[in-house]
Amino acid sequence: MIDLSKPVSINWELNNICNLMCPQCTRNTVKDGVLQWTEKSLNNRDTSLEDFKTAFNNIDRVSHVAFYGTVSENVLSKDFFEINEFIINNETSVTTSTNGSIRPAKWWRELGKLYNSSKSSKLRKMVFCLDGLREELSLYRINASYDKIIENARAFIDAGGNAEWRMTVFKHNQHQIEEAEELARKYGFKHFCLQYSRRNDIEETFTYKDKSYELLPQDIWKEWEQIKKERNAYTEVGNINCRAQINNYTLVDFTSRVWPCCWLQNADWIVGDQKFYDDYFYDKSNNLLEKSLEEIMNNPFWDILQMSWDEKSSCLKACSSTCSFNENKIAAGFRVNVFDYE
Ligand SMILES: C[S@@+](CC[C@H](N)C(=O)[O-])C[C@H]1O[C@@H](n2cnc3c(N)ncnc32)[C@H](O)[C@@H]1O
Ligand code: SF4
Ligand code: SF4
Repeated sequence: MIDLSKPVSINWELNNICNLMCPQCTRNTVKDGVLQWTEKSLNNRDTSLEDFKTAFNNIDRVSHVAFYGTVSENVLSKDFFEINEFIINNETSVTTSTNGSIRPAKWWRELGKLYNSSKSSKLRKMVFCLDGLREELSLYRINASYDKIIENARAFIDAGGNAEWRMTVFKHNQHQIEEAEELARKYGFKHFCLQYSRRNDIEETFTYKDKSYELLPQDIWKEWEQIKKERNAYTEVGNINCRAQINNYTLVDFTSRVWPCCWLQNADWIVGDQKFYDDYFYDKSNNLLEKSLEEIMNNPFWDILQMSWDEKSSCLKACSSTCSFNENKIAAGFRVNVFDYE
């Protein structure tokens, strides 16, 4: 499935911890009109520096570590700073996505220095997910403080860190795009991009801690909303462009288990669909604390997964809806770079 003779890019989820309640995040759901966690078992797992080193060394060559996060805010990992030091000392590039509304500005200053360090020439980037300005930010990023994120991002940038402002566009923040772009330039972000949500809409109003919310999709790019709906309903096969395979990447979760990608990671919602997935799901030994990546890739799961894409009867829904439908159009459209100075 991936080519182990080449360096591998890893999407690494260090923990299952987060301080926010973004309504469309995989962590959360709206049930009976109330925003809540999808499952009870969250905010209780973390990867120590020691375990990270063991897991990292069990992969032959790592080209890039991405702390993108599926159910996590990786920056909240206790050893996040030291883990990044280790990665950079290993001449490996790193990208992190963060809500930024955590840790003091002085910590971010130190991280900015580290990301600017001349110890390695490899790319390092911090993506601040700033979905709007002032009070509007917290209409999606529930529990976040706009002022705190800006203070932290500026401390990181002023210390030399390479930062991106990434803005997911909703109805409630679409009027702020130009102002956000201006501020991003003024504060020294090197990149500014707009992200159009691919997630299912939340059709009902909901409450969280006695406050009422309504999350409406953006309407400045109407065609996108139509494409999004069609894509989410798509179940055909035969045209799979597996992004994990194309980019030679794989995902390591907060227990150091290895998965093809974030859509198939610990996906209990697809258990019962295909036996090959169930077998892999319940076999907890495929983790980088006990085995090398090469040993894990010898599990028949990886070959069967590839074969499963040819037939509707065997293809996992995540593969068909995520990596089949009009994928080029989707990939090109959903994230739009507004400026890029590097
Ligand atoms: C699940 S978050 C985890 C990382 C970190 N906690 C954060 O929020 O940046 C990973 C990515 O999902 C994106 N994301 C969250 N909600 C989204 C939505 N409704 N539509 C599109 N992307 C979304 C974030 O912008 C972020 O880049
Ligand atoms: S900050 Fe990231 S991980 Fe946390 S709830 Fe929001 S999208 Fe999910
Ligand atoms: S969802 Fe399936 S096809 Fe897409 S990246 Fe993951 S494993 Fe590959």
